[in-house]
Amino acid sequence: MAKVTGLEGVVSAETDISLVDGEQGHLVYRGYWAKDLAVTKSYEEVAFLLWNGRLPERDELDQLEQRMANLRNIPEYICRIIDLLPLSVPMMAVLQTTVAALGETESSTWPPTLQQAERLSAILPTVIAYRYRKSQGLAIVEPDPKLEHVANYLYMLTDHLPDESHTRALNAYLILGMEHGMNASTFAGRVILSTQSDMSSAICGAIGTMKGPLHGGAPYEVIAMLEQIGTKDRAEPWIRNMLDNGERLMGFGHRIYKTKDPRAEALRIVTLNMTGQDPSFDLAIHVENTAIRLLEEYKPGRRLYTNVEFYAAAILRTIQLSPDLFTPTFTTARIVGWTTHILEQASVNRIFRPESVYTGSMPALG
Ligand code: ACO
Repeated sequence: MAKVTGLEGVVSAETDISLVDGEQGHLVYRGYWAKDLAVTKSYEEVAFLLWNGRLPERDELDQLEQRMANLRNIPEYICRIIDLLPLSVPMMAVLQTTVAALGETESSTWPPTLQQAERLSAILPTVIAYRYRKSQGLAIVEPDPKLEHVANYLYMLTDHLPDESHTRALNAYLILGMEHGMNASTFAGRVILSTQSDMSSAICGAIGTMKGPLHGGAPYEVIAMLEQIGTKDRAEPWIRNMLDNGERLMGFGHRIYKTKDPRAEALRIVTLNMTGQDPSFDLAIHVENTAIRLLEEYKPGRRLYTNVEFYAAAILRTIQLSPDLFTPTFTTARIVGWTTHILEQASVNRIFRPESVYTGSMPALG
């Protein structure tokens, strides 16, 4: 039986975009600590940094905000396509459909461009809000060009101007979710692009990769776990039962981080500032501590800690986002990292073509 490696330890590219140091628990975007950017910069500022390699001057930021605000609206034909999809079609599939259909007119050229990156990043929140409100039988809320990207997203979902603390918390989460080295969805996007396919196709593949519960689908499962546990006294028996049955705890473990995930650490502080010591936060902290202790007992030496999804779930729940929007919302962050990697891949492109080891039988010789 061949050893299944999941490409662990394999270097597939050199990159200027980010450093993920799993031993030290460091995450750096273009020379800046991601955790600092998360609490001092806006979504648009960090998107500019990732796309362009440096922070924007004031006028450059104004121009990017303006461009992205102008790119938020969904073309009429895309609305018609979304409306044709039965409500049973999940949001991530709606995003793939939309991006594929946009590609037909706007993102299907080689090489991919920064304008395409801005367009796709600007429009995803509008698509999510449009579909979500339709699915709930609510009137559509048009984007407000006076609002920044994050505030506008919350506004389109809820039809009221968001609480400042909610906007700040979501802004921090989206910045920390924007980029993370050669994770599965980014790798998938780079592989697709490497065939000289287009930005739109690469993003469709990345979205499909993102939705799996081992990657971007985890926060939904974290909420389910916290709800099933319910109270602090039930945490230990619930977790033991899961581990006794060989199940995984969602929101724990990471391929690269063998210490605390710096994004989880930063989000824990943001959540604490937003909620104070409310009971649901108290429960989350208790579950975190109990799980880390029991994971060390059941899986000694594997160094399993909380990952970004654990506190993402806490933040998204506090700002009252519907759980089925968690992974799509993560997608509105990671699209910046994906498009940056796609642009980088195009600039140094060579098609990805790894090898496999044949372990099957051979026909008889002669
Ligand atoms: N709960 C219980 N045990 C775990 C967990 C977990 N969350 N994560 C890893 N382990 C155990 C495995 O069972 C395995 O044990 P073994 O050595 O006895 O077989 C050992 O730790 C190593 O696990 P691998 O599967 O080799 O780790 P890998 O690097 O392939 O997986 C992953 C990383 C997918 C994130 C994993 O930790 C996991 O499934 N976590 C839960 C899902 C999750 O939270 N995903 C979000 C990740 S962050 C993101 O994608 C944005």
